[in-house]
Amino acid sequence: MSNFTVVEHPLIQHKLSILRRKDISSKEFRELVNEIGMLMAYEVTRDLPLEDITIETPITTTTAKQIAGKKMAIIPILRAGIGMVDGIHSLMPAARVGHIGMYRDEETLQPVEYLVKLPTDIADRDILLVDPMLATGGSAIMGIDILKKRKAHNIKFVCLVAAPEGVKALQEAHPDIDIYAAALDDHLNEHGYIVPGLGDAGDRLFGTK
Ligand code: PRP
Ligand code: URA
Repeated sequence: MSNFTVVEHPLIQHKLSILRRKDISSKEFRELVNEIGMLMAYEVTRDLPLEDITIETPITTTTAKQIAGKKMAIIPILRAGIGMVDGIHSLMPAARVGHIGMYRDEETLQPVEYLVKLPTDIADRDILLVDPMLATGGSAIMGIDILKKRKAHNIKFVCLVAAPEGVKALQEAHPDIDIYAAALDDHLNEHGYIVPGLGDAGDRLFGTK
């Protein structure tokens, strides 16, 4: 079974509590999603391999560390995943960004795919698939299906708020994928929204409701 990690860092937890409040502006919401995404990336990339290099400081020659040639890709699930990209990208500016567009049908709660645009060498990259919300798990499962169909194999799923139902479904569908969240919430309501959650992440990011 895949690993499920809740990133407990105090900065993440503090910012997430502000993000949940219904009275913050769309601007504040965007800033917080971006910041939490960046802080999550710090934890998620903890296992990147390092190699030794020789460098010249102003004083002497020394051995130092660098990340060992990993090619990364950040793939947001549209729309809400877009809100997490800039923060992560600022930490790993050489990463390529791909996009997977899908929305949940409001009646069936099933994801509907409308766009896939990925780096051509996606199979060779370590992938961070990002979406703030893991609710039923349908969107994440379909996103990973799409990536695996293109021979991508090293994928981590990074979200902010997860429901137990979504974690279970994703672990069953893709037991090889590690899942990271800032919080594991209580349950889904009858409309498939996470409780306590933070509402509709896409609408809050882009001010569409
Ligand atoms: C939200 C969210 C996830 C999905 C999670 O997207 O950003 O992609 O729902 O739900 P699931 O785990 O049940 O699939 P939404 O469909 O609202 O689209 P949007 O981001 O364009 O608003
Ligand atoms: N999508 C969201 O944006 N929020 C939820 O609570 C569930 C799915």
